[in-house]
Amino acid sequence: MMPNVASQAASDSPRLVVLGCGFGGYSLLYNLRRDRWHATLISPRNYFLFTPLLPSAVTGTVEFRSILEPARRRLRGVRVVEGFAEAVDWGRRQVTCRGAVGGERFSVPYDILVIAVGAAIADYGIPGVAEHALKLASVEDARAVRRGILEQFARAEIPGLSDEQIRQRLTFVVCGGGPTGVEAAAEISDLIHEELSESYPELAPYARVVLVEALGRLLTSFDEALADYTLKHFGRGGIEVRTSAKVQAVEKDRVLLQGGEILPCGMVLWAGGNAAVPFVQALGEPLSPRGRLVVDPYLRLQAHPEAFALGDCAAVGEPPLPATAQVTQQQGKYLARCLDRLRRGRSLEPFRFKASGMLAYIGGGEALADLPRVKWSGRGAWLFWHSVYLTKLVSLANKAKVLFDWLKARLFGRDLSRF
Ligand code: NAI
Repeated sequence: MMPNVASQAASDSPRLVVLGCGFGGYSLLYNLRRDRWHATLISPRNYFLFTPLLPSAVTGTVEFRSILEPARRRLRGVRVVEGFAEAVDWGRRQVTCRGAVGGERFSVPYDILVIAVGAAIADYGIPGVAEHALKLASVEDARAVRRGILEQFARAEIPGLSDEQIRQRLTFVVCGGGPTGVEAAAEISDLIHEELSESYPELAPYARVVLVEALGRLLTSFDEALADYTLKHFGRGGIEVRTSAKVQAVEKDRVLLQGGEILPCGMVLWAGGNAAVPFVQALGEPLSPRGRLVVDPYLRLQAHPEAFALGDCAAVGEPPLPATAQVTQQQGKYLARCLDRLRRGRSLEPFRFKASGMLAYIGGGEALADLPRVKWSGRGAWLFWHSVYLTKLVSLANKAKVLFDWLKARLFGRDLSRF
């Protein structure tokens, strides 16, 4: 028989089980009156990752550990179990899980279940993406991308290569012109022009960053004028943008575009958008056309009012709210209030999203700020971007660490050790 996690802890409070430690699960538990719940967090990683600064961690502008919040330290009173949720038994109200370390199976009973498992990266079945392209969703991904860039410079340094071979190794193709792809291309280009050009002066002129987007423009979720600005800014900074160029296949050392064009390259980063995680698909609950769990205005699953879903794995409203950190974080805070109201026998208020705008780093010390009343780009927006993210980082410790990392990178440059 599988061990039963929650039965090991004594508490009269209702059992709240939260799946996922991203913006949704973490902000819910952070804001929850935790003394009123017997709360268990099931997550394969034991930290919250501040993903908006993940592209900066790729290039060493901030250190990985500066953007992680250890769940056990920040969420006192919550039992943190490192595992993957595999299935939900709705009748017996328990979640079947697999340990993240060791892979043992166990089950966790709940009174209230919160599904906040986020999204996977969509590859649309395009051949070679899974095998040959790097992604940018986790700390491990960011480390792999950083290592990948440095490896290509190491490969290009081998004596006796032709110009063509060097150029191929130093071509970095980013697929997907959404915010992830744009920020990744910007950071890779910064790293090349601001750091690697000094360490590899003979090689740097060969380096190319190419951003490939299937649609006719970049950043479709941003204001069009800001997207146009980005295109011009990238042109000035040497990032080649290919719009209306759909990736058809990724092979080792090359990307194939629709229409037959081939882009020889050393490294490919895939940023093609979100897809449902297999756990969500397998739940057997109604899904939106984009594979998100359909929830009511209180974020509850239609057939299971004791279960809530939020963030990238849930679709609320018509059209559904976008899959952004801002929406998810607000939903986490909202649900903490909701659960408190439930505990006190009060009625629930529907979730209302308050849009406060979107930000994106576009490289060369410039950013975009797409705010409800102001569309802003350039250096000023970059300072604003810094101040917003500093405020949004959860703990004082991480705010101090990130501030220090930014100063350190400016004063002493980024660390280029390959490990
Ligand atoms: P996305 O869905 O916004 O963009 C993916 C892009 O890849 C799309 O423009 C799509 O047309 C393109 N694409 C898909 N298949 C392709 C192919 N075969 N060839 C070429 N291009 C292809 O995904 P992203 O950027 O990962 O963002 C996911 C969500 O997270 C979005 O809701 C986004 O707004 C949010 N986000 C917001 C950020 C910010 O505000 N700074 C930063 C990162 C993500």
